[in-house]
Amino acid sequence: MTEVKRQAAERALAYVEDDMIVGIGTGSTVACFIDALAAWKGRIRGAVSSSEQSTAQLKAHGIDVIDLNSAGPLSLYVDGADECDPHKRLIKGGGGALTREKIIAQASQRFVCIIDASKQVPILGHFPLPVEVIPMARSLVARAILADTGGQPVWREGTVTDNGNWILDIHNLRIIDPVKLETELNQIPGVVSVGLFARRPADVVIVGGEPVQVL
Ligand code: 5RP
Repeated sequence: MTEVKRQAAERALAYVEDDMIVGIGTGSTVACFIDALAAWKGRIRGAVSSSEQSTAQLKAHGIDVIDLNSAGPLSLYVDGADECDPHKRLIKGGGGALTREKIIAQASQRFVCIIDASKQVPILGHFPLPVEVIPMARSLVARAILADTGGQPVWREGTVTDNGNWILDIHNLRIIDPVKLETELNQIPGVVSVGLFARRPADVVIVGGEPVQVL
């Protein structure tokens, strides 16, 4: 599986250009991308990172980590996903970094998503949908989600996000209209962000394997 992730990650290097500031996601596939990106050190201006985990790995490679406020709009964002549908809409947040990932995806002109074939699904929702919540709103949000969607919210106990918040994973969803669900869940007070990337889907999906597919 690591080999397949590495194949997808290395193919994503084709989207990196000299002097870029590259947006960087989080997870094991992105870890392969950061390792590959090390060869570009000195040619890129640096990276905007979506997590403490990716920041540490970037710095270990000597790649400058730049604050998004200083970087301005980005040309490229590279990130993995937990599920990807045929319209390049995603579920993300298995690693808990969904909010910063969403911010950087929104700031980027091109979102290149790197996955293995196991992440491809016809309909999103088999993977539990992560929702980052303000801690005091955990029960309120869970009740609202149960009532509105019928999905089963499960608190990811022990996980505190890089933003100091908590995560609810919503089980048993079959997401027929991801844009609608994303919009609705975003309205619940206490929701920081939803791990549905449907309003801003990926632009390019790279699936590791023999051969590597670029969708
Ligand atoms: C982290 C994410 C990751 O992109 C997602 O969990 C996929 O991770 P991996 O590449 O390890 O399978 O959304 O919040």
